[in-house]
Amino acid sequence: MTEAKRIAFRIAVFYIISGAIWIVLSDNVSMALSQQKLQLYFFFQRYKGWLFILVTGIIIYILVHQRTYRLLLSQRELVMKDVKLQEKTQHYQSLFQYNTDGVFEITRDGKVVSVNPEGEAILGFKEDDLKHMDLSSLVPENEKERIQKYFFAALQGEPQIYEITLFNAKRVERITRCSFIPIYINEEITGVFSILKDITESRKNEELLISSEKMSIIGQLAASVAHEIRNPLTSLKGFVQLMDQTKTYDEKYMEIMMSEIERINLISSEMLILGKKQDVDFVRTDIAEILNQVVLLMKAEAHFHSAKLKFNNKLDNPVFIKADPNQLKQVFINIVKNSLEAISSDGIVVLTLSREDGRVRIEVEDNGVGIDEERLSRLGEPFYSTKEKGTGLGLTVSFKLIEKHGGTIDIESEKESGTKVTVTLPVID
Ligand SMILES: Nc1ncnc2c1ncn2[C@@H]1O[C@H](COP(=O)(O)OP(=O)(O)OP(=O)(O)O)[C@@H](O)[C@H]1O
Ligand SMILES: [Mg+2]
Repeated sequence: MTEAKRIAFRIAVFYIISGAIWIVLSDNVSMALSQQKLQLYFFFQRYKGWLFILVTGIIIYILVHQRTYRLLLSQRELVMKDVKLQEKTQHYQSLFQYNTDGVFEITRDGKVVSVNPEGEAILGFKEDDLKHMDLSSLVPENEKERIQKYFFAALQGEPQIYEITLFNAKRVERITRCSFIPIYINEEITGVFSILKDITESRKNEELLISSEKMSIIGQLAASVAHEIRNPLTSLKGFVQLMDQTKTYDEKYMEIMMSEIERINLISSEMLILGKKQDVDFVRTDIAEILNQVVLLMKAEAHFHSAKLKFNNKLDNPVFIKADPNQLKQVFINIVKNSLEAISSDGIVVLTLSREDGRVRIEVEDNGVGIDEERLSRLGEPFYSTKEKGTGLGLTVSFKLIEKHGGTIDIESEKESGTKVTVTLPVID
């Protein structure tokens, strides 16, 4: 029975029962009065009907008022709740519709339910196309396994964030930052929201910054490298002149000449490799070899600053990391260059390579001017430099590159005593 029927039924029952009681009572009263007070009896007979209507009228008014008031109140509460719900829905709808990131609602079996305008713009597909297509066709073959892993983890209730390259409608690769967020409804995960940001342009700018910073270091190293090459050339010239004068062939001289030529070859090759425009390629890399090459190049710069540059390799066996060799060289050249530039006299810069559980640790320690606390906290900020000719990009780029390699950089320094830069990188088998 509905609430309205129940109320009407109760009022009707009340009316019938009170009517019946009134009939029985008023009859008894009439009987008693007819025998004793005739005048009162006529009066009662005349007005008993009106009395009944008045009393039941008042009672019915009170009852109906009470019930309908409660009913209307709860109805009004319901309407208010509905309005609030609609407002909330509009809130979320705005977040979805006007989001500057692409938002996709995806079911447990990987089907798109809805997508916002930015999502359509990033991928170049309309919502209807996306609803009917296999999303995995947007993912390059070698990335499918990875994205599936993230999707299933999100379905287990763990939100995921990662970077991935996707194809748009024109089959052009876009670099995106993507997250999967589980959708809980009644404590059950019914699918995921995927939030997508196109970072292709900012990634390109970053790469441009890294490569122009690299060209800037090469420019800065050129003078000292040319100087470094001139020394063996002078000695070669001396030996050739000697051999020309004496017209003799001396094996001892020949050996020295060969080693000088080899040194020129090594330094100039290193410079060329560093300057070559290459695609970023993460390969299995021997970290000691990278540091040896950095030391070879930076020896010239150290001579230029009349400083000593030492490499202390504490590893017993070669240790490999996954890295882009050129980018790592760029980092360590930047760090060593900063150390050499911080040195005034009796300068010494020591590179120490060691291993600690699962990571390699490279320390670059100098006895230069040091950095005070206020400046220490600003290191890595783009264009922050205390040098007349510094770009202030050396450390910015180094931080970025080490982060890309899954590593860390830590800088400790004491004013007037020196600075220690510690880089750690994850080791591979
Ligand atoms: N080993 C160090 N000793 C003292 N100061 C340092 C050292 N390394 C970095 N710094 C400080 O950090 C600042 C930023 O370094 P960063 O390499 O980013 O730029 P820069 O060296 O000034 O310019 P560029 O790298 O283009 O030559 C430097 O200007 C310097 O003040
Ligand atoms: Mg620098």
